Amino acid sequence: MKAVVITAPGKPEVLVVEERPLPVLKENEVLIKVYAAGVNRPDVFQRKGNYPPPPEAPQDIPGLEVSGVIEKCGSAVSKWKEGDAVCALLAGGGYAEYAVVNATHCLPVPKGFSFVEAASLPETIFTVWHNVFQRGKLKEDEHFLVHGGSSGIGITAIQLAKGFGARVFATAGSDEKCQACVDLGADLSINYKKQNFEEVLKAEGVDVLLDMIGGDYIPKNIRLLKTDGRLVFINTMKGNKVKQVEGQPVDDVDFGLIMKNRLTVTGSTLRNRDANFKAALTNEILENVWQLMETGKFKPVIFKTFPLSEAPKAHELMESSDHTGKIILTNSW
Ligand SMILES: NC(=O)c1ccc[n+]([C@@H]2O[C@H](COP(=O)([O-])OP(=O)(O)OC[C@H]3O[C@@H](n4cnc5c(N)ncnc54)[C@H](OP(=O)(O)O)[C@@H]3O)[C@@H](O)[C@H]2O)c1
Repeated sequence: MKAVVITAPGKPEVLVVEERPLPVLKENEVLIKVYAAGVNRPDVFQRKGNYPPPPEAPQDIPGLEVSGVIEKCGSAVSKWKEGDAVCALLAGGGYAEYAVVNATHCLPVPKGFSFVEAASLPETIFTVWHNVFQRGKLKEDEHFLVHGGSSGIGITAIQLAKGFGARVFATAGSDEKCQACVDLGADLSINYKKQNFEEVLKAEGVDVLLDMIGGDYIPKNIRLLKTDGRLVFINTMKGNKVKQVEGQPVDDVDFGLIMKNRLTVTGSTLRNRDANFKAALTNEILENVWQLMETGKFKPVIFKTFPLSEAPKAHELMESSDHTGKIILTNSW
């Protein structure tokens, strides 16, 4: 089969199409003929050598989510049959003609969704469901803030939080991106390049905050949280430490606020979680989220598609941060 391989850590050009043997199917796995594969920021970190895959995943083929048709089922699989249209969460290996995945990590392609749309779902929905609803315990009428509102994660977090009745705030880096967040259901969207999000949201306060930025956002995030608020990290793209901004007064985390306001600070990474955890998460998502898809309350946002052979261009686009929503690779070479 053809696969897009990371030939060395580095720039997008290190992604090269190579011929590889078909992956070997274990008894609890299915072999999927890939129709489309989602691009996620962690793929970029992996390509640069900063996000090693777990040992059980293909080591040099990126790709955390695919959609396609089941070509073959392992001997212990009863849930699926050949020809079923699915999307699936992978620990790696999605940028290829075929991928194997634990059968319990697959979901049916939602009714009315194309394969391109279905490939855009698993990584962000699994991440958002776990971090916002399981860890963050977001409830109806609570205030929810997501940074990076126009990212793949952001467009999913906005729609799910709104779909479950929260008041939703988002930050993004341009007026156009802010408008896209509002169009998806955000009650208020803040262009962080023009406005200080802490000042804008101080009066409202936040119950659950999903952060992928870190750095100088950390003290501001903590100050914004209401009593019993929850701050959930899924990345710290501006750094794990509180960075001081040149020309601004020194800012630091006030741990007193964590006691005074009974705050919870937590976070997680999805890729390295074990198969049972991902299977349980798959079931919860099928029960709670798939109905939103099928009633039209959740819209996939596909910014651009590329053939898999143009994976370097897809990574360049992602690194430019010019996109809103998802970038998808299709199985053409
Ligand atoms: N923990 C987990 O399990 C997990 C799983 C999946 C993804 N993630 C993380 O979630 C984040 C979003 O992933 P994604 O695939 O949705 O990414 P994405 O679509 O590429 O979005 C990232 C967005 O973040 C914004 N941004 C703000 N500050 C940034 C900075 N310093 N560097 C780069 N971008 C910055 C950019 O938009 P602006 O124009 O608004 O700045 C950019 O479009 C990533 O950090 C990823 O690693 C975590």
